[in-house]
Amino acid sequence: MTADSITTLPHVSAPEAAEFQADVIAGLSSNPRTIPCKYFYDAEGAVLFQKICELPEYYVTRTEIDILDRNRTDIASELGPDVQLIGLGTGAGTKTRILIEALDNPAVYVPVDISEQQLRESTALFRKIFPNLEILPVCADYLQPVVLPRPSRKPARNIVYFPGSTIGNFEPDEAAEFLRRVANVCRGGGGLLIGVDLKKDRRVLEAAYNDRAGVTAQFNLNLLRRINRELGADFDLDRWSHRAIYNSDAGRIEMHLVSETDQFVHLNQHKFHFSREEKIITEFSYKYAPDEFARLAAKAGFHFVRMWTDAAALFGVFYFTS
Ligand code: AVI
Repeated sequence: MTADSITTLPHVSAPEAAEFQADVIAGLSSNPRTIPCKYFYDAEGAVLFQKICELPEYYVTRTEIDILDRNRTDIASELGPDVQLIGLGTGAGTKTRILIEALDNPAVYVPVDISEQQLRESTALFRKIFPNLEILPVCADYLQPVVLPRPSRKPARNIVYFPGSTIGNFEPDEAAEFLRRVANVCRGGGGLLIGVDLKKDRRVLEAAYNDRAGVTAQFNLNLLRRINRELGADFDLDRWSHRAIYNSDAGRIEMHLVSETDQFVHLNQHKFHFSREEKIITEFSYKYAPDEFARLAAKAGFHFVRMWTDAAALFGVFYFTS
C-alpha cells in the first residue's frame, strides 16, 4: 500500500441514481411518507450540515468536542496503547484529531468514509499532522461489512470510534444490529468509543433542529432540490416547509417536510398527491438516557465501561468493551 492510496471496495460506492430513485418512489408511496436521511448528504447537503454544526442552537458538535478535549487523557488511558483506531464517518476529523493526539503510540488509524473526497482531504491533513502514524483510509459504506487493510505494525487491540451521535439516526433495532457487527470488530480486548446525544428538555432539542437562521430548514429542503436535480422531479420548494418536533414517547426528534398546499408532484411516470399539511418524514434523531444506551449496547454484546459528559449532561461519550 503506497502512502497516499485509499482502499476502495468495488462493491460499495455512493448510492447509485437507480437506488436513489427506487428509495424515493418507495418512500413517497408508503404511509407515512418518508425519504431516507442518508440522501441529505450530497455536496450542498454536506456544506449545510457543516453549517449546522456551527449554529449556536446546535449544541451537539461543540459539546462533544468539549467533552473530548477536557477528558482526552482519561479517555486515552482507558483505550490503552498501540491501538488500531477505526474511525466511522469521522468527516473532517476535528474530534479524531483530539483523540489521536492523546493516544499512547497508536499503531494505525483507519478512517472509513463513503465520501472519497472527504476521505482524501482528511487523510492528507492527518498525514501532515501525524507524519509518523500509519493511516490506511478505506472508502466504503460502513453500514455494510468492511474489509480492514493490514497495518505494518500489529496493534494491541481494535478501537472503533463512532462520533457525532450518528447512531441516533438509526432505528433502535437497526442500531443494535449495527453495534453487533461493530462488536465483532472489537473482539479480543477491543472497544467502542461512541458519541451519543442524551435526552433533555424538549425546548433545547426543538431549538437545535429549528434554528433561527433557517439552516436546518435549508438542509431539509435540499433533499427536494436534490430529487428535482438528480431525478427530474418537480417539487415546488415554495410550497414546502421544514418542521422538527420532539416526540417524547419515542424519544426522538422527527424532521418533516410539510406540504403547504394541496398539490401534485411528478417523478417520471409517477404522480404523487399531497394534501395541505401532509408530511414527509425525512429524519429521526433518537436521544438516549445513559442507562438506556448502555442497555442497547449490551444487547449487541458490549460491556459498559464509562461515560464522559458535560456539566449540563447534554451529550455522552461512551466507552464499551467487547
Ligand atoms: C448527523 N446527525 C447526527 C444529525 C442529528 O443531529 O441527528 C443530523 C441533523 N439533522 C438535523 N440537524 C442535524
